[in-house]
Amino acid sequence: MANHKIAVLAGDGIGPEITTAAIGVLDSVAMKFGHKFEYSFPLIGGAAIDTEGAPLPQATIDECKKSDAVLLGAVGGPKWDSLAGHLRPEKGLLGIRSALGLYANVRPAILYDELKNVSPLKNEVLKNGLDIMVVRELTGGIYFGTRGYRNGTMGREAFDTEAYSVKEVERVAHIAFQIADGRRKKVTSVDKANVLESSRLWRAAVARVAQDYPDVELVNMYVDNAAMQLVKNPSQFDVILTSNMFGDILSDEAAMLTGSIGLLPSSSVGDGKVGLYEPIHGSAPELAGRDIANPIATILAAAMMLSGSLELYAETECIENAVKKALAKGYRTADISTPGCKRVTCSKMGEVIALNVLNG
Ligand code: IPM
Ligand code: MG
Repeated sequence: MANHKIAVLAGDGIGPEITTAAIGVLDSVAMKFGHKFEYSFPLIGGAAIDTEGAPLPQATIDECKKSDAVLLGAVGGPKWDSLAGHLRPEKGLLGIRSALGLYANVRPAILYDELKNVSPLKNEVLKNGLDIMVVRELTGGIYFGTRGYRNGTMGREAFDTEAYSVKEVERVAHIAFQIADGRRKKVTSVDKANVLESSRLWRAAVARVAQDYPDVELVNMYVDNAAMQLVKNPSQFDVILTSNMFGDILSDEAAMLTGSIGLLPSSSVGDGKVGLYEPIHGSAPELAGRDIANPIATILAAAMMLSGSLELYAETECIENAVKKALAKGYRTADISTPGCKRVTCSKMGEVIALNVLNG
């Protein structure tokens, strides 16, 4: 019986509720397949600020590095909004991504048949389906560039810097092309090369990487057009490769096209051995403590973790099927509820999916 060590970074807001639901599902997987998952619960974000005085204590980094994988809930909330930038909960999330060298963030946006009527897009636009993989660069760009305050020509100003090296672009591009090679063989690289120097370097580097993948088509698209094309004709996209900032924005948009941001998981990978898995949504402070959040994104993130870091492929499929079955049976959390559905709480949705795993 294999023993797998999982660091669960619950974080803030709905983080504890959604990770608890995901652990319930993982426990069902362990029971069904005869695995042992050993959880640790290091602190991150506001929870870490409150007890340790910093959003990412060294002990948390150490624990994550000792683990086989990291499952994260969400960080942030109004309580910590007035803190200086380097002390904010979000700094904990950026810090752990960086400390683990997770330069590629993979965000699948898939439309479930059962949720077609929840998507804000017309059925007509969705007739060719929607199955997009956003590959977002995660440890570079404006998120990590030089920032600060200075005196500008119009007085005091704040600045952030978008910088990309060829190497940073190439390594994430390789991930995108490899993923596309196993899918519909198309990479749309999204940039703003008509304005930004860093985007021009991005475009040239991606074009060079593309030569290693002759079977994969490369399309370049400006980010403003990509935002429009996502709602106009989403089925044209297979893999979207883009920068940290553009990926943050476009993945929220892609998520909403599937019906709710509460449905989308993500995996973050790099050259290191520890991957990090999290929902793409935030800590939703207004939902926290009310047991009404949608745990599906986190449950699907746990599913991605099983194949991505633990080589448990049948187990991933089992969770994904259990989610589909819950939706097919009409179970819905508030964000995706429709008239006549079985409206359930966060914990109940977790239980339904966990039970489907056992009976799957
Ligand atoms: C995400 C989130 C984070 C990001 C925030 C919470 C720092 O929006 O994972 O998309 O911008 O990366
Ligand atoms: Mg985001």
